[in-house]
Amino acid sequence: MKLSVIYHSESGNTQKMAEAVVEGMNKVEGAEAKCFSIDEADEDWIKESSCIVVGTPVYYAEMSGKVKLFLEKCGKYGLAGKLGGAFATANFVHGGGEIAIQAIQTHMLVYGMMVYSGGGSFGQPVIHLGPVGVRGQFEELAENFRIYGERMAKKTKELGI
Ligand SMILES: Cc1cc2nc3c(=O)[nH]c(=O)nc-3n(C[C@H](O)[C@H](O)[C@H](O)COP(=O)(O)O)c2cc1C
Repeated sequence: MKLSVIYHSESGNTQKMAEAVVEGMNKVEGAEAKCFSIDEADEDWIKESSCIVVGTPVYYAEMSGKVKLFLEKCGKYGLAGKLGGAFATANFVHGGGEIAIQAIQTHMLVYGMMVYSGGGSFGQPVIHLGPVGVRGQFEELAENFRIYGERMAKKTKELGI
């Protein structure tokens, strides 16, 4: 069961959180998760992945332009039927993280992906749309990203896709 985490990161925050998501995914038996910078995505691995998670820095309360361009060119990956999720990093709690996540999830739905996060169904940590990392709290929030990755991989396994 392959899983891909694709991120855009200029100053390393989103990359660190992507690595935490992958760490959580790989805790699930049978999961083989890898993360890729948006500039160095392994196309074959993505095509073969059952689950795709996209991470973005928040730019102007939205996903970054680079992530949007990437998502607009994802037709080649055959995304329909794959499980999808998104996360963000930002400077501010109210800086637009969830708006960016939701916009990515909208693109995924248009591709025919199944969008998932676990929402509040697992209790703490409650992750409604997807995890948001905030400046000054990346270290302490990394555990939430690991847990999110584990939830995504468990659901992928359960679906048998
Ligand atoms: C052009 C630009 C726009 C930004 N806009 C926002 C914003 O609207 N809200 C926010 O909270 N942070 C904003 N930030 C801060 C980044 O989202 C934040 O530093 C992020 O963690 C950077 O991720 P990276 O280290 O992976 O590049 C912006 C940063 C840049 C460069």
